[in-house]
Amino acid sequence: MYENLIVTTEDAVGVIQFNRPKVLNALNSQVMRGLTHALAAFEADATIRCVLIHGSERAFSAGADIDAMQAATPVEMLRENWIAAWDRPRTMTKPVIAAVSGYCLGGGCELAMACDIIIASESAQFAQPEIGIGVIPGAGGTQRLPRAIGKSRAMELILTGKFMGAAEAERRGLVSRVVPVEAYLAEAKALARDIASKPPVAIQFAKECVNKVFETALGEGLDYERRMFYFLFSTHDQREGMEAFLAKRKPEWKGQ
Ligand code: HXC
Repeated sequence: MYENLIVTTEDAVGVIQFNRPKVLNALNSQVMRGLTHALAAFEADATIRCVLIHGSERAFSAGADIDAMQAATPVEMLRENWIAAWDRPRTMTKPVIAAVSGYCLGGGCELAMACDIIIASESAQFAQPEIGIGVIPGAGGTQRLPRAIGKSRAMELILTGKFMGAAEAERRGLVSRVVPVEAYLAEAKALARDIASKPPVAIQFAKECVNKVFETALGEGLDYERRMFYFLFSTHDQREGMEAFLAKRKPEWKGQ
């Protein structure tokens, strides 16, 4: 069903793997359409509670497909609006984890940053190298990278196209953690399973509230968080979670 993507489920985790090894998982419109479709299917599937996106050990993705993109006109790109697909992990109600190894460049880096959590292998290399091909990041890089690592270093990376290694990405807070190459995928899957085992409505609200940080002033964000917190007291899972804690037993989540 999907070309250049391998889409599977592992219990409550939806897994999407880029599969264009010859071009280091460059993202063309076919891949992005497939990704959009797979994410929508996981969003609609109540048995899926967390999504994981990964590439290969050599490359998460070397970015948008330059070959496919080079002859595009502004009007074609505007009509197709293919860059909208990059924002989809953010707007999903379910958490999306990016497991990154090797090259994570341009649109690949932008896609990873649109995810909720990045787990990196020791070989991961991040860059916004668009300046080297005469353009700029177009799928969120100029907005998300400064928010993640600060203006000065983000500006330097975007203006030079230079690579940033996994250790620095971890130090600056772009990624949650760095794991040996042979373990990064297993570790990211374990994290996805852990998140998938939590109460789904609270998980959805927690994701929304954290994302508000990037869109609102503090007072508005605090107000939003408080309302979400109050609202959770209308759910089964709040009652169950608190009762289970007090009864010293394991909670059973219903997502209600
Ligand atoms: C199309 C790509 C590609 C890309 C690599 N390839 N990146 N094809 N689009 N983004 C292809 C190469 O042409 C080559 O094909 C094959 O993958 C292997 O790449 P090599 O260059 O031979 O490998 P290596 O020497 O290891 O260098 C790896 C690399 C380099 C450093 C990642 O390929 C590179 O600099 N790629 C471009 C990175 C980039 O500029 N990304 C940003 C794109 S713009 P052949 O056929 O020769 O074997 C972007 C904008 C997003 O992402 C904003 C809007 C969505």
